[in-house]
Amino acid sequence: MNLRVIIGIAAIFTLNGAALAANPHEGKVLTDKNCYQCHGTEVYTRKDRKVTSRPGLTKQVQRCEQALGLTWFDDQIENVAEYLNRDFYKFK
Ligand code: HEC
Repeated sequence: MNLRVIIGIAAIFTLNGAALAANPHEGKVLTDKNCYQCHGTEVYTRKDRKVTSRPGLTKQVQRCEQALGLTWFDDQIENVAEYLNRDFYKFK
């Protein structure tokens, strides 16, 4: 195996690890701390909610996080998206 293949495989394992480690509990802590200045949880459950897919949820969390001027890592964004999905959106 050459080095590039090894690095490629290592990268795949790292990405998988991040996805597997998505932690909705951590996401709730982050949400409670940062996310109630502009809207509460009512936007997540309203009839005409904007987010219509699980990937869309991650994107929206990122948009709001950036609007707040936070600099979250991808895994923090994913933890929050996972929390919102578990408790509100319930996408498969
Ligand atoms: C600076 C104000 C602001 C803050 C702070 C904020 N949001 Fe938002 N958020 C918005 C606005 C504006 C919308 C769009 C609401 C609308 O269309 O009525 C929105 C919508 C959303 C939606 C989509 C709701 C739907 O219709 O499905 C999600 C999910 C969301 N925010 C998550 C978050 C999270 C997570 C945080 C904390 C990181 C956060 N927001 C903090 C302004 C904010």
